[in-house]
Amino acid sequence: MTAIAPVGTDALLPVYRRLPLEIVSGAGVHLTDADGRSYLDFTSGIAVNALGYGDPGLVEAMRSAAEGLVHVSNLYGTAPGRMLAEALVSRSFASSVFFCNSGAEANEGAFKFARRWARTTRDAGATEIVALRGSFHGRLFGSLAATDRPAYRAPFRPLAPGISIVERDIDAIEGALLNGTVAAVIAEPVQGEGGVRVLAPEFLRALRQLTRAHGVALILDEVQCGLGRTGSFFAYEQAGIEPDLLTLAKPLAGGLPMGAVLLSSEIAATIKPGDHATTFGGGPFVASVANYVVERLSDPDLLDSVSENGAWLGNQLASLAQRLPTVRAARGIGYMWGIDVTMPAGQIVTAAMEAGLLVCSAGEHTVRLLPPLVATREELAEGLGILEDVLRQ
Ligand SMILES: Cc1ncc(COP(=O)(O)O)c(C=O)c1O
Repeated sequence: MTAIAPVGTDALLPVYRRLPLEIVSGAGVHLTDADGRSYLDFTSGIAVNALGYGDPGLVEAMRSAAEGLVHVSNLYGTAPGRMLAEALVSRSFASSVFFCNSGAEANEGAFKFARRWARTTRDAGATEIVALRGSFHGRLFGSLAATDRPAYRAPFRPLAPGISIVERDIDAIEGALLNGTVAAVIAEPVQGEGGVRVLAPEFLRALRQLTRAHGVALILDEVQCGLGRTGSFFAYEQAGIEPDLLTLAKPLAGGLPMGAVLLSSEIAATIKPGDHATTFGGGPFVASVANYVVERLSDPDLLDSVSENGAWLGNQLASLAQRLPTVRAARGIGYMWGIDVTMPAGQIVTAAMEAGLLVCSAGEHTVRLLPPLVATREELAEGLGILEDVLRQ
């Protein structure tokens, strides 16, 4: 075996500003580096590892899935994929599911399905996708055009046409719908990368009403905030609305790459064989593991503890913001929080790592906390203690 190259000198394309940390193992909510140092992990692999590390049930689900079929392509059906689609349908507004391999892919699939539906039920000119200020929907061409980050967009212009960004304001969105060319509006119920901004339930309800009134599809991107992270299985449940399309990914298959698009029966009815495809999506191995994860993340006790501990975490962060001049504000819900800091967020991310706590950023001045959903109140308190020490220095 070749020796592991030191961080920063390897052959990986340098598209990431990686922290100088080589992770070798994990257990529960802790990760260990190559020097044997332990870290409390409040990133969850960016909202992926909802069950933490080394969860015995998840390990067993992967082991038994590996003994079965790994891949057969979508030319054939397999029981795990069918069961997973049924599990997601039975928990949601949807009548059917398309599986893919990432969040960006799920959003691009949703854009295609929305256009197909609008073209079939309205007219060929109804093709526009509208995304919101502060949004992040992925880095592929369609999803990048729907992502409101100038630094991510500028080097790759021209971006995919037919996709625009409007203010997070109902009147502004209505203005964008008036000319009849919009197929869909896409929104994250909690904007993650854009600074952990929770869209108010009233805003989501108004958006639902507006899109319905204009015959426009509502796509909710729950790639980061879905599957339990806000304290309900789907974030949209808390607003009492239902979207027409919903995208999922991150925690869906316990760390294996998987995305999904959930479609209402009305949209699904317009999709024909050949409209979309993927070689790997929904294969039996990932789907078997995802069946286990979906079951675990639907556990009412787990969801209650995310709600209760999350509310407690929010109160603690709000109090931190009152006590420390370096913290301007705290925003979030469940196990998804952002704090605005006066210094560059990267500085806090590095200092916290050095103090044994892993957090990430969400924009220039927002530190983001995404603990595994299994983190206990004591573990949250321990992380908060480290964070407070770091912010005081
Ligand atoms: C809300 C949201 N949508 C889409 C994506 C893109 O997902 P992926 O990185 O799996 O393509 C992300 C990733 O952070 C996300 O947070």
